[in-house]
Amino acid sequence: MIIGVPKEIKNNENRIALTPAGAAELSKRGHEVYIQAGGGAGSGFPDEDYINAGAKILPTIEDVYGIAEMIIKVKEPIEPEYKLIKKGQILYTYFHFASSEELTNAMIENGSVCLAYETVEMANRSLPLLIPMSEVAGRMSVQEGAKYLEKTFGGYGVLLGGVPGVPPANVLIIGGGIVGTEAAKMAAGLGADVTIMDVSLPRLRYLDDIMPPNVKTMMSNEYNIREAVKQNDLIIGAVLIPGAKAPHLVTRDMLSTMKPGTVLVDVAVDQGGCFETTKATTHAEPTFVVDHVLHYCVANMPGAVPRTSTIALTNATLPYAIQIAQKGWKQACIDSEPLRKGLNVVDGKVVYEGVAEAFNLPLHNVESVL
Ligand SMILES: NC(=O)c1ccc[n+]([C@@H]2O[C@H](COP(=O)([O-])OP(=O)(O)OC[C@H]3O[C@@H](n4cnc5c(N)ncnc54)[C@H](O)[C@@H]3O)[C@@H](O)[C@H]2O)c1
Repeated sequence: MIIGVPKEIKNNENRIALTPAGAAELSKRGHEVYIQAGGGAGSGFPDEDYINAGAKILPTIEDVYGIAEMIIKVKEPIEPEYKLIKKGQILYTYFHFASSEELTNAMIENGSVCLAYETVEMANRSLPLLIPMSEVAGRMSVQEGAKYLEKTFGGYGVLLGGVPGVPPANVLIIGGGIVGTEAAKMAAGLGADVTIMDVSLPRLRYLDDIMPPNVKTMMSNEYNIREAVKQNDLIIGAVLIPGAKAPHLVTRDMLSTMKPGTVLVDVAVDQGGCFETTKATTHAEPTFVVDHVLHYCVANMPGAVPRTSTIALTNATLPYAIQIAQKGWKQACIDSEPLRKGLNVVDGKVVYEGVAEAFNLPLHNVESVL
C-alpha cells in the first residue's frame, strides 16, 4: 500500500503520525511510505531518519495527499486539506467528528474512508488510541502542578516531596482512571501525600491494592471533596463520564476555603472541566487565578511534549496501520472488531451512531460498507 504522512498544519501541533521506527516496520513489509519534508522535525525526527528507515521524502503536502492510498495523521484535517483528499482515500487519524459539523460534511462530500482513532474500541470498552494521551496528560499534570506550586509561579511555595523534617505536600486527585492513576504514580514517586477519589468502589479497591503506601483512596462525593480541598496543595481533576460533560465537582464557593496559592490542574478541561471555575487555556498562557487559587487548564497537554507524545501515540496506532496496509481497510475491519468501531464516515455514509446523532444525519449499518 502507498502510505502518506503529511506534516501537521494545525496551530502548534508538533506531533507526527509515524516515527522512523514505524516507517521501517511498514517498509519492510513492502509498503511505500512517503513523509512530507520536515514533518518529524517538531518531534525531533529529521528527514534522514525516515530515509534510513526506507521511507521517501516529498516536498509538499499536495504531493503526499496526491500519491497516498492511506493518509496517517494526528489531528483531524482542517479546511486547507479538505480539497486534497480523494474519493476512496483512507484517512487514519483523530477526527472528533461530533464536535465539528463542517468537518463531518466535508468528509461525507469527498467520499473518503475515515477511521477515527478516538472510536477504536476494545471489547472491554477501553479506547486504546486515547489511552496514550491520557497517560501523558496524567503524568504531566503532576510535573506542571509541582512547578506552579513554586512561589515565583504564584503557588503556595511547597516542595511536593518535602525534605527530612518537613512534611510532603498533599495532592488530591479526583478521578482514578488512566489520567488519575498516572498522576498518582508520579506524585507518589516524588514523595507527596496523595489521595485519589473515584465513584467506583471496584476501581478504588484496585488502586488500593497496587498503589504505594503514600497513596490513600477515598470515595468521591461532595462532602469528602469539600473537606479535602481545604488541606490539599495540588488538586488534579481527572474525571470522565463517557459521552457527557464533566460534572463540576469543585465549586466556586470551595475556593475561599483553600489555602492561597493552592494549584488546581483540570485535565478534564477538554470535556468542560470538573472545576466550576475552569476555562480552557493554552500552552502560551496556561494559568489564571481565581480567589487566590491558581488554575492550570490546558486542553492539549500532550502538545507540550511532542516527542514523548508522538512515540506514545504511534506505539498504539501502528499495529492497526500495519493491519490496514497488509489487508486493505475492508478486510482489516472485518477481521478486527476494535478497528471496525473506528469507521465513522465511509464513501459519503455516516456509519458511527454518535456522529449521525450529533448532526441528525442518516445512520448506515457498518456492514453495508464492508
Ligand atoms: N487536557 C488534556 O490534554 C487531556 C489529555 C488526555 C485526556 N484528557 C481528559 O482527561 C479526562 C480523564 O481521562 P481518563 O482517560 O483518565 O478517563 P477514564 O475513563 O480512564 O477515567 C475517568 C475516571 O473518572 C471516574 N469518575 C467519574 N465520575 C466521577 C466523580 N464524580 N468523582 C470521581 N471520579 C469520577 C470514573 O469512575 C473513572 O475511573 C477526560 O476528560 C479526558 O478527555 C485531557
